[in-house]
Amino acid sequence: MSFTIIEPAKSRLNRSQLAVPGSQPKLFEKAWQSTADIVFLDLEDSVAPADKVAARANVIQGLHAFDWSRKTVSVRINGLDTAFMYRDVVEVLEAAADKLDLIMIPKVGTAADVYALDMLVSQIEQARGLPHGKIGFELIIETALGMSNIHEIAGASKRNESLHFGVADYAASTRARTTNVGGVNPDYVVLTDATTDAHGRDNREVHWGDPWHYALSRLVVAARAYGLRPVDGPFGDFGDADGYQAAARRAAALGCEGKWAIHPGQIPLANQVFAPSEAEIQRARRILEAMDQAAREGRGAVALDGRLIDIASIKQAQTVVDKARQMQQAG
Ligand code: GLV
Ligand code: MG
Repeated sequence: MSFTIIEPAKSRLNRSQLAVPGSQPKLFEKAWQSTADIVFLDLEDSVAPADKVAARANVIQGLHAFDWSRKTVSVRINGLDTAFMYRDVVEVLEAAADKLDLIMIPKVGTAADVYALDMLVSQIEQARGLPHGKIGFELIIETALGMSNIHEIAGASKRNESLHFGVADYAASTRARTTNVGGVNPDYVVLTDATTDAHGRDNREVHWGDPWHYALSRLVVAARAYGLRPVDGPFGDFGDADGYQAAARRAAALGCEGKWAIHPGQIPLANQVFAPSEAEIQRARRILEAMDQAAREGRGAVALDGRLIDIASIKQAQTVVDKARQMQQAG
């Protein structure tokens, strides 16, 4: 281990993250009843400018109307460059900070953005007699500037809990060519070398690539380096369950803890992909037992099912077992 010790952020289930427009309060109850691990009530881009003030009032009312304590609830505020943000923070926190776990900050560009919000939230917590640090931060990385400064951003506040890949705005910011939010692109392919088969037919193959691979990998590294949860963002074509699952599996393979759901139909898909399977949980338990036994016998590595496991395996196995416990508690 490094001599620099990074404290992990508060541990929460974050397999699915449901987006709910603040301008549609009729959807709040369904979101509250859903199996999403985290629900965020949105004041930002799903709300038209003319509806911003009404959406804020809806969100405050919605936070009081239901007992959110059995799930994690967040509010996405408007960006720091708008005329809405300060009132989003002041009004929502003054009226309902005790009901809220997190605020989600969009389009974070620099560590100073996080610092500014930290100062504002700290003052409100203090003025309201709330424990310092009650409100955690979810940060959306969705601009070229934010992606450039991602490491400083990740380490900018003790309130930081997670980094989210906002692929729609990221594509706009980097001018990536895309049609479906979070989808792939037929131009982003590798063509194998030109060869012919035994009959002289061209057998070049087309291999689709993932245009978001670099961005998401960078986000995973920055998040994990600072003890935060990396979370993949939206997938726009909510009729395409296979496409969503494939994107979620790629994100999970890289180390993400979850993915956004912009439609309730995507919640069970995310919950399934980001949960360890029963077989993985059993194996993790056996790894912990085997390593316990090895420690008692003064050995650092042992074989389990014909494969070497060592002290590094304990951490991975412990993560799986902890997640299984959280899932059981969530019911
Ligand atoms: C989310 O906010 C996105 O831009 O993808
Ligand atoms: Mg966005």
